[in-house]
Amino acid sequence: MPTPVPTTAPTASATRSSDLVRAARREPVDRTPVWFMRQAGRSLPEYRAIREGIPMLESCMRPDLVTEITLQPVRRHGVDAAIFFSDIVVPLKAIGVDLDIVPGVGPVVAHPIREWSDLDQLVPLTPEHVPFITEAVRLLVAELGATPLIGFAGAPFTLASYLVEGGPSKNHVRTKALMHGDPELWDALCARLAQISGAFLRVQAEAGASAVQLFDSWAGALSKADYTARAMPHSAAALAAVADLDVPRIHFGVGTGELLQLMGEAGAEVVGVDYRTSMTDAIDRLGPSYAVQGNLDPALLFAPWEALERRVREIVEEGRRAPGHIFNLGHGVLPEVDPDVLTRVTALVHECSSRP
Ligand code: CP3
Repeated sequence: MPTPVPTTAPTASATRSSDLVRAARREPVDRTPVWFMRQAGRSLPEYRAIREGIPMLESCMRPDLVTEITLQPVRRHGVDAAIFFSDIVVPLKAIGVDLDIVPGVGPVVAHPIREWSDLDQLVPLTPEHVPFITEAVRLLVAELGATPLIGFAGAPFTLASYLVEGGPSKNHVRTKALMHGDPELWDALCARLAQISGAFLRVQAEAGASAVQLFDSWAGALSKADYTARAMPHSAAALAAVADLDVPRIHFGVGTGELLQLMGEAGAEVVGVDYRTSMTDAIDRLGPSYAVQGNLDPALLFAPWEALERRVREIVEEGRRAPGHIFNLGHGVLPEVDPDVLTRVTALVHECSSRP
């Protein structure tokens, strides 16, 4: 089936004037918008309760559960955006890749990709593979009203790392061996993943998500040269799949201080900054063309309130120099965090950034 004719997302008007969408578009805001990566998840007792006995991937495929879990942190913390509850491997599962998310481990792949014939597992993703995503986004958009929903996908490099290694990896040795040993196979693998990620973003945007985030969590493992040659073109292809839709694109990675400019150039309106790079340095590197998102160290949520408060205020101040700033963590919420601290940080960001 051909890709549907571009449409403006149904929510565009409801969330167009939200601080999150305005900051992403480098427009003036009333307050610095704030949300947290992994805000929906194990830090919340209501999440642990609703997930009890239901495997992670099953919960991602049930629109009623996806809707409830996505809304939980919005209700509790008063954050400025909902992040769609799913996982970067859900589109791979949907096209038939044999994988599971193992508690405490992460995604584990039954038949890792190492040769040309292994690519047969990766067929093009169409909306028909993921009707449960379309349904959940529609349900959510109706519930969220003026609060934007952020859709997301994994970037080709990060997805390829799971597929080639067969699971989580510290040093990405097989991934890098394939990238350098057989660049043609690597590029063919990543081209398929770019189609899958791009189509997954598009399904969410067309169903009503107000922004999208491409997670390239492990891109910081690459040198600038390797990122430029072997990862960036594929991320650019994934981001290009929604370029004609009215949704700002956020591009995030961990340890990517050296890659920030390239991540913007790949086709993002907002570049995510992890806590290893100061906001000031990130803004200097990116210049006036991009909004920034970040960058509180998730470990600081365990520090005494005075120390945490000081750091949050500093980040808000630093962010004022950017043409747009979305407050977030430098990586995801850790499961052990006291959720009341997240509520307090949300209120603090709003209070200290309020423009009269
Ligand atoms: O609140 C949100 O941010 C939305 C949901 C979300 C999840 N995964 C839910 C999830 C998002 C955006 C992701 C993205 C994701 N998944 C990434 C990119 C972001 C990042 O953290 O760098 C990556 C690398 C994955 C792969 C993955 N899935 C990992 C490493 C894990 C953790 C394994 C573990 O148990 O520690 C998962 C599982 C996962 N995805 C959980 C959640 C809430 C935990 C599963 C559970 O609650 O049982």
